[in-house]
Amino acid sequence: MLARMDPRTAPSENRPLRFVRRGEAVQMFNVPPTRTLLELLREDLGATATKEGCGEGDCGACTVVLGEKCGDHIEYRAINSCIRLAHSVDGLAVWTAEDIAPTLPAARGSLPPAGADPAVGRPGGGAGPSLHPAQQALVDHHGSQCGFCTPGFVMSLFGMYQNRVCQGQAVTRELAQEDLSGNLCRCTGYRPILDAAQQMAELPRVAVDEAALLKQLAALPQAQRADDDAYLMPPSAAELLRLRAARPQAQVVAGCTDVGLWVTKMHKQYAQVLDTTAAAELRQIARVQHGGQAWLSIGAAVRLSDAFAALEQDRPQLHAFAARFAGLPVRSSGTLGGNVANGSPIGDSMPLLIALGAAVVLGAWRSGQVVERRLPLEQLYTGYRQNVMAADELLLRIEVPAATADEFSRVYKISKRFDDDISAVCLAVRLVIRDGVVASASIGAGGVAATPVRAAQTEAALVGQPWTLATVNTAVATLRGEFQPISDMRASAAYRRTVLGNLLQRLWLDQQGATTVSLETLSRTGVLA
Ligand code: FES
Ligand code: FES
Repeated sequence: MLARMDPRTAPSENRPLRFVRRGEAVQMFNVPPTRTLLELLREDLGATATKEGCGEGDCGACTVVLGEKCGDHIEYRAINSCIRLAHSVDGLAVWTAEDIAPTLPAARGSLPPAGADPAVGRPGGGAGPSLHPAQQALVDHHGSQCGFCTPGFVMSLFGMYQNRVCQGQAVTRELAQEDLSGNLCRCTGYRPILDAAQQMAELPRVAVDEAALLKQLAALPQAQRADDDAYLMPPSAAELLRLRAARPQAQVVAGCTDVGLWVTKMHKQYAQVLDTTAAAELRQIARVQHGGQAWLSIGAAVRLSDAFAALEQDRPQLHAFAARFAGLPVRSSGTLGGNVANGSPIGDSMPLLIALGAAVVLGAWRSGQVVERRLPLEQLYTGYRQNVMAADELLLRIEVPAATADEFSRVYKISKRFDDDISAVCLAVRLVIRDGVVASASIGAGGVAATPVRAAQTEAALVGQPWTLATVNTAVATLRGEFQPISDMRASAAYRRTVLGNLLQRLWLDQQGATTVSLETLSRTGVLA
């Protein structure tokens, strides 16, 4: 198959893009480095069931599922194809809403043959189900009206089916809401779709033939790699850093959930792209020791969903916050390192990581070897989306101190929409209180300055003080005066200052054991005098 080639962004050589779809190897040539996966599917392969809604990772209409070999099994991720670069699926399996019906002849090899499970009582069922359970359940529950968002819902359901139903996990209402958090429906409403999510497990089982798929992935033709490839995806940190030094003009990408918008919304084109996500060391999560302290080390290319799952092992209270970091398709593509290196003042991970005392490790290729340096996260940033990294440096990993038994840590996000939205204000706090006195306090804030910031003045107002409402109110006043936020489309400066202080009051109530916060709670506890 031949993709259209834009002469202005022609790749510097003809390295093919290879992936598995419908049980067959697909090989494409002359795919420009900034062609999105959605463009490739719709325009080059004619797979027009996958829709474009927003083109920025918000609506989920473009959701497809990727499969990647992970040891002896396949890992499934529902992602937004509109902001994912096509070359990033090299070596993976791709499913669209057109690819999952079990009776598709071309699907054989990745799905079991039709007839493996009887479709009892289905119109036209006959020898086997004609729709995948994700599709059939939507039909059964009238979960589709416009048909525009439906392919995206189907694919998020398919991802849920593979990751939960096929693993024997019950799909609760809460899980269904979390897994569908990246899909918007503006007409049907969510109840029938959530009903469908819960019903999938009751339909005749249709599972991917992973053994066959693993063989197909292993058999994909290998391409020679060269430094002048238009899309560089090196397999190791050393190679990544060497290429960074040799190709400083190349645009660095990770999960592309932000750079993808530069392409789709700002129409940026890059002649060469350096993708960090294949470098093995940057994909690792490990426990390490520094100065007699235990740290969780998270590689910069670890997907946000996996990074937060690791953070939640130490601090389960982070789950509600993690589930609100965009929608699942964004968390399944975006990386923790991408969020941190990007340095957006409204990025959600940095206030939390600052409060937890995280460090970043930067690397560069110098004199034929990898040279690393480590610094506290808050020292990474120097201005709006600016940082201390030299031209040849890249973020390799983020290291987070393990939780201690005496810490009290919370993170709060305020956004206009509960799900799938960007913070207007974010506040993260880690406290240690001993004998009624604040022994240590670290506070990270987002949405209140040009960079993610540490609230050092507020920390100073707390440390050494008795842990009382009076101390908290002093700290609230300090916090509201510590930053000069701007007014923008997400919130006014006054709102941000007020809410920032309110969140510290909320922390006090949480620490006091309040399970709900209402006007009644506020007056009973004296927060509202
Ligand atoms: Fe809306 Fe991709 S088109 S998320
Ligand atoms: Fe498409 Fe709801 S069915 S917006």
